[in-house]
Amino acid sequence: MISLAAEQITVGFTRRGTGPFLALDKVSLELPPGAAVGLIGESGSGKSTLARVLTGLLTPDTGRVLLDGREVPPAQAAARLRRQVQMIFQDAAGALNPRQTVFAALAEVLTVIRRLRGSRAALEACIADLLEQVGLPAGLADRYPRELSGGQCQRVCIARALAVEPAVLIADEPVSALDVSVQARILKLLARLRRERGLTLLLIAHDLAVVGAVCEQAVVLQSGRVVEAGPPGLLFRSPRHPYTRRLLDAVPDLGRALQMLPPNNSQETA
Ligand SMILES: Nc1ncnc2c1ncn2[C@@H]1O[C@H](COP(=O)(O)OP(=O)(O)O)[C@@H](O)[C@H]1O
Ligand SMILES: [Mg+2]
Repeated sequence: MISLAAEQITVGFTRRGTGPFLALDKVSLELPPGAAVGLIGESGSGKSTLARVLTGLLTPDTGRVLLDGREVPPAQAAARLRRQVQMIFQDAAGALNPRQTVFAALAEVLTVIRRLRGSRAALEACIADLLEQVGLPAGLADRYPRELSGGQCQRVCIARALAVEPAVLIADEPVSALDVSVQARILKLLARLRRERGLTLLLIAHDLAVVGAVCEQAVVLQSGRVVEAGPPGLLFRSPRHPYTRRLLDAVPDLGRALQMLPPNNSQETA
């Protein structure tokens, strides 16, 4: 299990009309090995910008990224983090190539990034195993993204991320586009994968209920600054910051959906 940390990250952008502003202002965040940490904040608070810094897609103006306790030099960040840190996104269907079957999408990762060499049968077995891990039937491998539901698309994206065998998974609003019952199933899947594979997880959301379902720690971001942090349960009961209170919106629905799920749903087909 591996840790990932951001230290005093600052990122400035220029907004047309209003000029330069800080999307992230000295933000620090720590993902201990095997931990699940939630990052919450309303739209525009800087969540995705921090995710891009943590995956090496964006070089911060100041601050450091540490993988397993060692600083990752910005020039090497993209290459060094690519194998270790994988991301999934809100728009799962859009993240998949519409002209690629599920099989082709997973095979590409296995052969290009993992450099898996071997027989067709070995590749098929590997893909069947990945699909099973995300609760999809092996028969789905021949389908195209348009033939899948939103929840199934997100499961394929999760399988594709797992195919790289990352140590860290960053999920950027992975359930925001899904129905509440499907949200609950995907969150349960993430929690199970994290447990079974010893993944370090950063779960980004705009409401605390999503984070509370999976994470033991939550960090609240507002306008590029960390304004509150702590166990989600504590933030639920006594949010110190008025902004945190506003993020409690969707709580009852998701809580009910999670309770209605059987404790161990291995075939999750939603
Ligand atoms: N490449 C960019 N150029 C200019 N502004 C950007 C860029 N990326 C993000 N921003 C701005 O930075 C702020 C934070 O964006 P983002 O990290 O995407 O927020 P969130 O994911 O929390 O919704 C927003 O005001 C957004 O418009
Ligand atoms: Mg975002």
